[in-house]
Amino acid sequence: MRSFIPTEAYQEPASASTSSRPKTVLVNGGAGFLGSHLCERLLERGHQVICLDNFYTGRRVNIEHLLQNTRFQLLEHDVRQPYDMEASVIFNFASPASPPDYQRDPVGTLLTNVLGAVNTLDAARRSGATVVQSSTSEVYGDPHQNPQRETYFGNVNPIGPRGCYDEGKRSAETLFFDYHRKYGVDIKVGRIFNTYGPRMRLDDGRVVSNFIVQALSNTDITIYGDGRQTRSFCYVDDLIDGFLRFADAGENCVGPINLGNPAEITVRDLAEIVLDLTNSRSRLVYLSAVADDPQQRRPDISRAREDLNWWPTTELKTGLKRTIAYFDALLTHKEVVEAV
Ligand SMILES: NC(=O)c1ccc[n+]([C@@H]2O[C@H](COP(=O)([O-])OP(=O)(O)OC[C@H]3O[C@@H](n4cnc5c(N)ncnc54)[C@H](O)[C@@H]3O)[C@@H](O)[C@H]2O)c1
Repeated sequence: MRSFIPTEAYQEPASASTSSRPKTVLVNGGAGFLGSHLCERLLERGHQVICLDNFYTGRRVNIEHLLQNTRFQLLEHDVRQPYDMEASVIFNFASPASPPDYQRDPVGTLLTNVLGAVNTLDAARRSGATVVQSSTSEVYGDPHQNPQRETYFGNVNPIGPRGCYDEGKRSAETLFFDYHRKYGVDIKVGRIFNTYGPRMRLDDGRVVSNFIVQALSNTDITIYGDGRQTRSFCYVDDLIDGFLRFADAGENCVGPINLGNPAEITVRDLAEIVLDLTNSRSRLVYLSAVADDPQQRRPDISRAREDLNWWPTTELKTGLKRTIAYFDALLTHKEVVEAV
């Protein structure tokens, strides 16, 4: 059964296609790490924001401070179920993102990405909304090309433990482009590379949060493999800025566009920096490598520079200090300062 999700009595402006005019914006997965930052930034721009989430990995605390805002609305809904929405823009960020989260329910993850894409594209088609997809660098799998450009088709193991996420995201991209070609839906597909910052969960199992939490608690820092695998880390504010520019770009700008920080670092070097910034007594401990863990991960962001005039500006150490302050506050039960 299709659930119709009503919006508050809000007058949509005649033209809702420019960044300066207020719009009704739906953020699927808005109670998650990235989605909550996106909701915040959209409200700051004066938009009416509807946060849709089933709280699989999202948390109420991420959006608690937004609930008093009369332009913010929270809807508990699962994107695997059809829905209707009168919105000008839909950001589809609903999907678990960290390997432990998505591997806990692999079938659910695949369906969230595939059915979530179908239901979101159908809603966009009915309402005429622009729909922005949060895809991932995981569509490149364990790449044979470094840095990864959008033209690279990737090297993904469809039957491995990461397949539910990687193939779910790849199928979602296919659906986005087919709805665009077949039905003229206004789409934008952004491929996110590792992004970090405040509001990641203590236990989400991502490398940045793992290292910071281990360092702050002076427990062993666990590195999977020899630590020479590389990653590129983008601070959350930079990433959200990229997505907002993408949403505001003209309808010919559909992507896919890589959004991430091209500064590449080994996992071992990341651990050393975290140790240094936290003055930690933790030791580095090496565990066996994880199946299908990519050895290299670095975006080529020429397309984002050219089409969106966007590139990240936050230095790794600056972003890490803000993230460490956030986790430090969480671990010591201090009030978490929203301003970090
Ligand atoms: N953070 C990163 O480094 C990164 C990298 C690549 C891609 N992404 C993508 O960005 C998006 C957001 O990631 P995040 O890091 O904020 O993760 P997150 O787990 O913090 O947020 C995901 C949100 O989606 C919600 N959700 C999950 N399944 C849902 C469903 N079936 N129906 C409705 N809501 C559902 C969760 O409850 C959560 O609030 C995801 O699509 C993820 O694949 C993130």
